Amino acid sequence: MNEKHLFAVTALFDTPDEIIHAAHETTSAGYTRFDINTPYPVHGMDKAMGLKQSRLGVFALVFGLLGATSSVLFMTWVTLIDYPLVIGGKPFWSWPAFVPVAFEITVLLASVLSVVTMIVLYFKFPNNSHPLHDTPYMKKVSSNKFGICIQADDPTFNQKAVEEFLAKVGGKEIGPVFFDLEDLDHGQHIFDPKFIGVLALTAILVSGGTYFTFNKLLYMEPFSWMSAQAKLKAQRPSDLFTDGIGMRRPVEGTVARGFLPYPFKGKPDEAAKNLVNPLLPTKEVIDRGKTKFLTYCSPCHGNFARGDSRLAGQFPNPPTLHSDKVRNWPDGSIYHVITEGQNVMPSYASQISRDDRWAIIQYIRVLQRAHNAKESDLK
Ligand code: HEC
Repeated sequence: MNEKHLFAVTALFDTPDEIIHAAHETTSAGYTRFDINTPYPVHGMDKAMGLKQSRLGVFALVFGLLGATSSVLFMTWVTLIDYPLVIGGKPFWSWPAFVPVAFEITVLLASVLSVVTMIVLYFKFPNNSHPLHDTPYMKKVSSNKFGICIQADDPTFNQKAVEEFLAKVGGKEIGPVFFDLEDLDHGQHIFDPKFIGVLALTAILVSGGTYFTFNKLLYMEPFSWMSAQAKLKAQRPSDLFTDGIGMRRPVEGTVARGFLPYPFKGKPDEAAKNLVNPLLPTKEVIDRGKTKFLTYCSPCHGNFARGDSRLAGQFPNPPTLHSDKVRNWPDGSIYHVITEGQNVMPSYASQISRDDRWAIIQYIRVLQRAHNAKESDLK
């Protein structure tokens, strides 16, 4: 038989008011080693028990600061030393970009490490046994009763006196709780070699099985999903070239698909002379030109190209496209303005394909003709 030690004397109460009162009395009577167990948090209990502010907040502060500094130092190392990369023309050490990451890591470390500290330091993990576990007292206070438990290790503890005291403050079902020294180190079984061994074996089997299934089994020939390909990955070295660099510059004189260089850069006169509209003014072309004109040009030039911008003065109003000047321009000149821009009007080369630019011009011609209709057009 194991020897039983006295852990505490417990008493039960029926209402939150009674337990708050009892806590007050216990503090006033000078007991320091006692605890209150309630089925739900009771407001004002910390004050009634004379509890000081928890030190967990200090831990959270330290972990938060650790998160902030370590993340900023890490990003500094990445952006200045390990992989300096120009992003959007910003300086390498661009602190606004660090704010979200630093914030997240601060919150993450502060919260996760505080919980770990609480469990390990305050709750003494992995020891998860407590003399009150499995007692009738604990069953009641986790259901509908409010309990107080004055511990035997209190300096002024005297079983008889405590029992009388609890009866005086209105406690019911007053009784001692004993514990077995051997039971108390339950928790150490977590480090039992057999248990750890089974845990490790399970981990190895499960992760090995998962790895094999997802990385090998699913890709066995002939169902390899074409995953085995000789290819070059961005920013990876390659044995194919003598200098070992995988990413190459384009061969000189080559042109990327869809990126034909514009031969009349800065030469509007040559554009006017040499460019010819390849599209005929068919209904499809004009419809397409109308759509694109209304999308890209009308915000500034107005729906009918009269220069009546919808932007209400937020951008300089463009001139009308019904001027004699633009009406007499060859198509190449308008094409040049769309492609290169003109003074404050920006280039639309990256938004509008070449064919669409020519279609827009056909539509502008329609608008111009409609604005300057001749007698013969009406017949
Ligand atoms: C952001 C507003 C804006 C948009 C969008 C815009 N333009 Fe312009 N455009 C202007 C301004 C402003 C001018 C006058 C530029 C200058 O001072 O030379 C101009 C000038 C022009 C001219 C020359 C007119 C002349 O008399 O010199 C043409 C042609 C023209 N735009 C066509 C277009 C076409 C076609 C589109 C659609 C693809 C378009 N613009 C889209 C603002 C715009």
